[in-house]
Amino acid sequence: MAKIILVASGKGGAGKSTVSALLGEALAFRKSTVLLLELDSGLRSLDVALGVSEHILFDMGDIIRGSCGIKDAVINCPFCPNLSLIAAAAKPVLVTEETIKMISRELGDYYEFIILDCPAGIGIELENAAKCADLGLVVATPDPSAIRGARSAGKLLENSGVKERRLVIERCPQKAKKLAPLKNLDEIIDGAELQLIGVIWEDPATRDSMDAGTPLDDTGINYETFRDLSERIRGRYIPLGFK
Ligand SMILES: Nc1ncnc2c1ncn2[C@@H]1O[C@H](COP(=O)(O)OP(=O)(O)OP(=O)(O)O)[C@@H](O)[C@H]1O
Ligand SMILES: [Mg+2]
Repeated sequence: MAKIILVASGKGGAGKSTVSALLGEALAFRKSTVLLLELDSGLRSLDVALGVSEHILFDMGDIIRGSCGIKDAVINCPFCPNLSLIAAAAKPVLVTEETIKMISRELGDYYEFIILDCPAGIGIELENAAKCADLGLVVATPDPSAIRGARSAGKLLENSGVKERRLVIERCPQKAKKLAPLKNLDEIIDGAELQLIGVIWEDPATRDSMDAGTPLDDTGINYETFRDLSERIRGRYIPLGFK
């Protein structure tokens, strides 16, 4: 049965969809089968990241309305054979705990990981997803309001019974002095009250690969960071190697 990984943030625009897509790719390029389940109804973006915008026949909204079978809504990534997507509903609709559980029951034997790309905020959508998740990744950029949002999201996950919860720092400047007003990464970890599992660097090429629907270049700065994050998710010890 698939391990269900939820990606949340609290504050919007922290990098949840980027982490969902690129972690999914990193796992899938290393032979794991991965399904991305986009829960951000009305605000799709993973179809762009995977370059499949033109291939969507059915989405989460169709599954909820019963106008297609669950498998009919699965789209395969053209550049990463082990990676699939169910795109978010085109219009706002609430994705319930039952819907997520129904999908994971039907598809859970075909995938090693199901990644839930959650909407921003700490509302009912996140609660519903949290009731289904084995691991919660909380994404925060290095700024005080994102860190506060990450702490709130982490608490919601804890209260909803997500036993494993970890912090991913996104858009981290490559020069420590650019972290100001924060002094160092410990301040983010302490503020979010979560154990760190990965640091993703601020990098225009990462943004461009998401916008172009292409994989990360293996010479790029975040190729290794996502590879290491994927190995940690698999339970391998990879030192964080900085601070
Ligand atoms: N490491 C990075 N380096 C540079 N730009 C990044 C990086 N990660 C994310 N971005 C950019 O930041 C913006 C927000 O990222 P993303 O869409 O992944 O956030 P989100 O948390 O999913 O947002 P939302 O709350 O709207 O769903 C995007 O333009 C994305 O390309
Ligand atoms: Mg998003």
